[in-house]
Amino acid sequence: MIKNTLLSAIEAGAGQLTKYFNGSFTIASKGSLNDLVTEADHASEKAIFKVIQENHPDHFILSEETGSMPTASTIKWIIDPIDGTINFANGIPICCVSIGVEENGEMLMGAVYNPFMNELFFAEKGKGATLNDKPIKVSDKDHLLSSCLVTGFPYQYLDTENGPLQIFEKLIRKAIPVRRLGSAALDLCWTAAGRFDGFYEHKLQVWDSAAGFLIVQEAGGTVTDLKGDKYNPYQPGIIASNGKIHHQLLSLIKGGSL
Ligand code: IPD
Ligand code: CA
Ligand code: CA
Repeated sequence: MIKNTLLSAIEAGAGQLTKYFNGSFTIASKGSLNDLVTEADHASEKAIFKVIQENHPDHFILSEETGSMPTASTIKWIIDPIDGTINFANGIPICCVSIGVEENGEMLMGAVYNPFMNELFFAEKGKGATLNDKPIKVSDKDHLLSSCLVTGFPYQYLDTENGPLQIFEKLIRKAIPVRRLGSAALDLCWTAAGRFDGFYEHKLQVWDSAAGFLIVQEAGGTVTDLKGDKYNPYQPGIIASNGKIHHQLLSLIKGGSL
């Protein structure tokens, strides 16, 4: 039942992305320069809410543009109506809808759908991860120096010691390819599918990673915070990898050199 609702909700949201993509839509700023929200983000959110509320009116919803809609339910839907809004607003088809379903504080299910590539990633706790219904697994590269990585940068410059730019510099000085797709949810799913060997980012929100981190774990990967501790999607830092390069990437992020 929850899985059906999740898949219907993600489809409903994605329908709004395809409807507005490359057309005309309003764009508003959320405060800091380039932190945007479009008419399509709101339309996607509305379409998703409709499906969830029709099927589970008592469930708790937490969604990026509307915020928290608490209830007494143990089930919480964590929604990013468009992950990759800057890409979307520029007509770059690397964006998606991401929905995680949490039960009693544990991620139970997650789905991420990029309608422009027709790629639906899905995972259920303990049952593996799929891309368009076919099982996926992480890569088996075991050395950071031969890995292909992906990262993202926060909308506001993070002026911390050994921050995003310093880590990026260390990696590219060693000629390690580090991509920047602009959608954390897709970064995670592409790591789950073995396209990337690892992903890290310093300042995510729970809706960016709720579905994707479960998809990586269920594809056999490892996900931790930036200190290497058990991942909690309500704190900002993430390292997700195939498991084999996790230690090398973690030690570099913690200040080590290559
Ligand atoms: C953003 C994307 C991006 C990440 C940002 C997120 P949005 O989400 O996931 O890759 O670097 O930190 O805020 O704003 O497009 O939903
Ligand atoms: Ca996001
Ligand atoms: Ca978003």
